[in-house]
This record gives sequence, C-alpha cells and structure tokens, in this order.
Amino acid sequence: MAKEKTLYTCNECGGTSPKWLGKCPHCNAWNTLIESVAESAAPTKNRFASLAKTAAVTALADIEASDVERTPTGHDELDRVLGGGIVEGGVVLIGGDPGIGKSTLLLQALDSLQRAWEAAPGRAGQRGGTFLSDAGPSQGAKAPLGGSGPRAAGERGGTLYVTGEESGAQVALRARRLGLEGSRVNVLAEIQLEKILATLDAHRPSVAVIDSIHTVYSEQLTSAPGSVAQVRECAAHLTRAAKASGTAIVLVGHVTKEGALAGPRVLEHMVDTVLYFEGDTHSSFRLIRAIKNRFGAVNEIGVFAMTEKGLKGVSNPSAIFLSQHSEPVPGSCVMVTLEGTRPMLVEIQALVDTGGPSPRRLSVGLDRDRLAMLLAVLHRHAGVACMDQDVFVNAVGGVRISEPAADLAVMLAITSSLRGKPLPKGFLAFGEVGLAGEVRPAPRGQERLKEAAKLGFSVAVVPKANLPKKNDKAFEGLTVHGVERIEEAMELARSLT
Ligand SMILES: Nc1ncnc2c1ncn2[C@@H]1O[C@H](COP(=O)(O)OP(=O)(O)OP(=O)(O)O)[C@@H](O)[C@H]1O
Ligand SMILES: [Mg+2]
Repeated sequence: MAKEKTLYTCNECGGTSPKWLGKCPHCNAWNTLIESVAESAAPTKNRFASLAKTAAVTALADIEASDVERTPTGHDELDRVLGGGIVEGGVVLIGGDPGIGKSTLLLQALDSLQRAWEAAPGRAGQRGGTFLSDAGPSQGAKAPLGGSGPRAAGERGGTLYVTGEESGAQVALRARRLGLEGSRVNVLAEIQLEKILATLDAHRPSVAVIDSIHTVYSEQLTSAPGSVAQVRECAAHLTRAAKASGTAIVLVGHVTKEGALAGPRVLEHMVDTVLYFEGDTHSSFRLIRAIKNRFGAVNEIGVFAMTEKGLKGVSNPSAIFLSQHSEPVPGSCVMVTLEGTRPMLVEIQALVDTGGPSPRRLSVGLDRDRLAMLLAVLHRHAGVACMDQDVFVNAVGGVRISEPAADLAVMLAITSSLRGKPLPKGFLAFGEVGLAGEVRPAPRGQERLKEAAKLGFSVAVVPKANLPKKNDKAFEGLTVHGVERIEEAMELARSLT
C-alpha cells in the first residue's frame, strides 16, 4: 500500500505543520505536535471513507430506535459491568496492569460466546442457508449477535481473537490451562491494522478482541506501534469498522505507571465503554470497574477471583475486602462502599508512626490529597494532631475507593492507630467529612447499613441523615449512632473503646 502523506497536528490548537517541530508555529505551545495522516480531499479508495459519504440525513423521529441487543458473555460479573452483555457494534476498551488477567478473561469470554453461537438452534434458518455472494457491510447487520448456523456470507457470527502480544501457540497454551481444550475461537496473530481490518471484513465475527491496541500499527504512519499517533489512528479505524459492520470489538489497552490508560486521552472518548481492571496482583481478587458506558451504568464493579482455571466471578463480594483479625486491632475501621449497585464492606487500615522532619503521608487505594485534607480537619476540629507523624492508609485487598463516604472511616482508623486503641468488634463507619468539620450523608445509606447488619456488624457510626427508621427489622442487631460533626464522631468512638 502506498504511504499516505503524514502531517503533524498540534494537540492544543489543532494547527498543522508538514514536519515535526518542538514548538507549535501557531500557538507557540511546546511539544504538542503529533503525527497523523493527512486527509486528502480527493476521493480515496479507502472503503471506510467512502462509506461515510453514503450517509443520509434522517429526522430523529423517523429513526427506528430499537433497544440495543445485548449478548451475555456467559460471565455474570463481566456482563454486570458491561450493562448486560456485549452490544452489537459496540467498542469496549479494557485496561489494567500487566499480568492482571485481561487476556485470560477475554479468552474465557470469547470461548463462551463461541460455544453459545455454535450451540444456538436454527442457525441456518435465518437466511435459508443461501450464500449471499456480495454482501455489503450493512447487510447482515440485523443478524443477531449470537446468531448461528452454517454461516451465509454477509452474516455475522463467531468470534475472533487478534493477538499482537503473544503467538498463537502461547494463546493455545493458555486456553489449555484454562480448560478450554477444543475451543473453536478463531485466533489471528497479527499486528498490522490493514490486515486485521481485512480479516474482520472477510470473517465478519460478531465479537472480536484486539489484544492489544498498543501493538497494532498502521502502515500509513511511520511512528512506532504504541505511539500516540498509531494508537489513535488504529483505534479510530477499528471503531469505524465496528460501527459499520456491527461487529463488537474489545480493545485491550496498556496502562501507565500511574494506572491511567496509556496513549491519547481521545481513546477513551472514541469507544463506547471503558473498563479498568483493578486489584492487588498479590491477592487473588480482581475487580473490573466501568469508567464510562454508553450502554449501562458507570462505576459498576465486577468481582473475580483468579484461579488456576482462570477468572471466576464472585457473586457475593461484600465481605472479601475485610482482613480476618481474630481480635480487633488498632488502626482498622470498616466502611461500606457503594460502587454501582452493590454495597461492599472494605477495611480501611491506618498506621500513624513517629516521622522525621518532613513526615510522610501515603495512601493506597484512597486519594492522597484527600488524606492531607482529612488530617487538617482532624487537627482543626477534633484536636487530633499528626503533624510530626508519618501517616499511611490502605484500603484492604487492592480495592480503590474514590467516594468521599470513606472519610469518616479513614479518620477513625487514623485516631485509633495514633492512640493505639482498637475500635470495638463489629464496628463500622461511613460518611463524608467537610472542611468545616461537618459530617455529610452518604448516598443510599440505608442499603449500606442493611448489608452491614446482614454480615453481623453490631455498631455503626454514620451521618445523622443516614439514620434508619426506628423499628426497622432489617437493622436488627446493629446499633446505629448518627453524628453531625467530626468532634461528635471522635467522642463517640472514644466512649465506645
Ligand atoms: N497456573 C496458574 N495458576 C493461577 N494463576 C495463573 C496461572 N498462570 C497464570 N496465572 C495468572 O494469570 C495472570 C496472567 O494473566 P494474563 O496473561 O491474562 O494477564 P494480562 O492482563 O493479559 O497481562 P499482559 O498485560 O501482560 O498481557 C498471571 O499474572 C497470574 O496471576
Ligand atoms: Mg495479555
């Protein structure tokens, strides 16, 4: 294929330059020029470009809005974060630390999808088994994703696993370890975008996985695979191919050392769903969180356990982020976090220790800036000073808590560690703490308390507005104290210990 002309576009102002420059000649910003393909005005032979030209304008009322059809992946926890299953023509981006289990989960999901497709009855019926010789990309778009039968040309069906990081043999080895011998998932070991697009066009799978987008390169660009320009260009082409053909595409993405998706930010805007794998690689639990979802709720969490046979869904994860102390220990406080639709109990641990001249504040799974703020509130409003102390806080099990409802538990854990006194057995707390020392209610407090009561917790300190109604049987065995200010909460904790 002939090389297309490349152009350097400024990230800031969108200005272009025919060659790379350190400083944008238009807006004078430094280091903002990124290689991209120059769009030619002349008609091109690129079939995706020509497809776009066939688009017609339609009034919104005339567009038939059928419900999105979802195909369950056969893994309930994955379906939960996807909003019910894979959507026809949907593009999912899944990121996570190296070795966390991205390839494992996707291979397992593809295998179930492939098996469901092969087992579905009446596959040949839909098209009478006829061979449609010249099926355009829009034909067959109405075929159900998990459709079946000896496939007629143009009909979508089956799965494709494109591996750029491992060889076919390595994928087969993993499949064997996962107990997926005899799997009919189609594997393509390829990293060149044009070949992948051609294969997608020829095989028309209903679901394709690209593992990973950072290894794919387009020969129209000179930059290396994984560079911002390559990732953006390849993702854009694959997204367009998904929308045009109805094939659902799952892109695996690498993450940076900070845990964000590597490559251009625009990648997350391009796709329909962004999922992140979280979890401590040393523990066996893995979480998948939906960061963005055009077809479902965000911040929904799927919980898995890594086993020798791959990732297994954990359907009742409420107690897995608690460490099993036989007796209460100082510096530990349990909170209930509500991510998505399920309440989960998470243990917050704090260690306060004499520090040097510049004491350290470290947090794992919680926001560090928020920790500094909470320490200031603790000092100013509750008279608990940690100025000369190192403060470490940790959410047990590698879970990341982004909601402010963790504030009260963090502060109680810190005070408990500072005093060397454990909180009582069966104790939990949640609530947001403001700069003025007020304790604000957490959303859906009753649901959180119900979960705690179900797990046998006996004492709870919560914002006053989250107090349950008296005589509600669901909270039996749980004494709930409502507080309005942080001083009150500290006083209460002191009286309980
Ligand atoms: N025999 C085994 N028993 C249990 N767990 C295993 C076994 N073999 C591999 N694993 C787990 O599978 C993980 C590898 O998963 P996988 O290759 O799917 O990760 P990945 O997210 O695709 O990584 P990468 O980003 O490197 O491609 C290992 O880190 C390990 O936890
Ligand atoms: Mg992998």
